[in-house]
Amino acid sequence: MHILVVGGGGREHAIVWALSKSPKVDRISCAPGNAGIAALADCVPVKATDVTGMVAWAKANTVDFVMVAPDDPLAMGMVDALEAEGIPAFGPKASAAVIEASKAFSKDLMAKYHIPTAQYRTFTDMDVALAYVEEQGAPIVVKADGLALGKGVIVAQTVEEAKEAVRSMMADKKFGEAGAKVVIEECMTGPEVTVLAFCDGKHLVPMPSSQDHKRAYDGNKGPNTGGMGSIAPVPCYTPDVAKVCMETIFQPTVDAMAAEGCPFQGVLYFGLMLTPQGPKVVEYNSRFGDPECQSVLSLLDTDLMDILQACHDGTLDQLDIRWKSGAACCLVLASGGYPGSYQKGRPITGLEEAGKTAVVFHAGTAKNEDGTIVTSGGRVLGVTAVGDDLERAIQAAYAAAGHIQFQDMQFRTDIGHAF
Ligand code: AMP
Ligand code: GLY
Repeated sequence: MHILVVGGGGREHAIVWALSKSPKVDRISCAPGNAGIAALADCVPVKATDVTGMVAWAKANTVDFVMVAPDDPLAMGMVDALEAEGIPAFGPKASAAVIEASKAFSKDLMAKYHIPTAQYRTFTDMDVALAYVEEQGAPIVVKADGLALGKGVIVAQTVEEAKEAVRSMMADKKFGEAGAKVVIEECMTGPEVTVLAFCDGKHLVPMPSSQDHKRAYDGNKGPNTGGMGSIAPVPCYTPDVAKVCMETIFQPTVDAMAAEGCPFQGVLYFGLMLTPQGPKVVEYNSRFGDPECQSVLSLLDTDLMDILQACHDGTLDQLDIRWKSGAACCLVLASGGYPGSYQKGRPITGLEEAGKTAVVFHAGTAKNEDGTIVTSGGRVLGVTAVGDDLERAIQAAYAAAGHIQFQDMQFRTDIGHAF
């Protein structure tokens, strides 16, 4: 089969890597891909958000199956467009991807189907929103409704901070149209856990739990980033918690989407908070998380292509999905200054040595004309290792990353230990 993977970050490198192990897959293309992906796939110069261009390329190059990984093309209807041309594609249709693309939709869905989440209200009028903040007090959470690159959420510790967030979203349009509508919700407490699940519209199979590290610096300090590292599974996500989540959150969500006429096929991302009152949903995403994907797929022991196909065909219940025992850790090596401004084009050394004991997934890298791999983004690499237990996985990831160098390299030293 010829598979096209859409996207070009660390998550897509992990997906391409997992698919490259499938005996059913004999050719992989990736659009746009990156310098690491290029070792396993043909990189295609089509932007991930170019729906028309992607469909045309897939048709012209006899692609058998497309895996759409990022949120934007899913929300734009890339799966719908591919399927309309008879090209099978993995990922939710636009009508189901809205579970991530609109927080107002997902909050209303949870309210209607009694899925536990923070109390909330949605506002389109700024004065009403400001009055609500005043009435509720702090801490309180303010969210822009649309996709805002994970930056449209303010956990405000004071009423003034919350009001400032409302004003910047609704009056100053800090997140553009994403902030025309805001969701204001109760501030929850407790450890955060991600559970990714394969879905075929009706059935759902959760993957091992995982945890992202969103803040830039050690001790969960500093600005939010796309994710500085991940572990899987998460020790506090016990089998008892998993059972409660399956019964009160996971299956009810899949059933709700089907009942609403937008069955979810693809990877559903449950961002959970294990609060003193039980697990609650912080957010849904309509795709694999990055960098959770890198850790979780490192533990997969079943052919990923079989799973993607079963999700597409609605036969997930007939597949036995297996996972390695033990744990995985993905350590992100970022450019100095990230998530603020940073330099690009720094030569990277030690990749081969690191690759002997870990898998080095590329995110922001490029290849120079002389063949040198250089930095080309904020998050550069995700050094991912597995071990018999979490401590060994963490140690292995740090040991492998120790071989890698580039100027101003920045990383957290507490991945897996930041509770
Ligand atoms: P989101 O984009 O909705 O996942 O929010 C980003 C981050 O903000 C989450 O990972 C949480 O750490 C935090 N957050 C969001 N909603 C809440 C809430 N209701 N209570 C506490 N923290 C929250
Ligand atoms: N790791 C969080 C996300 O992908 O949204």
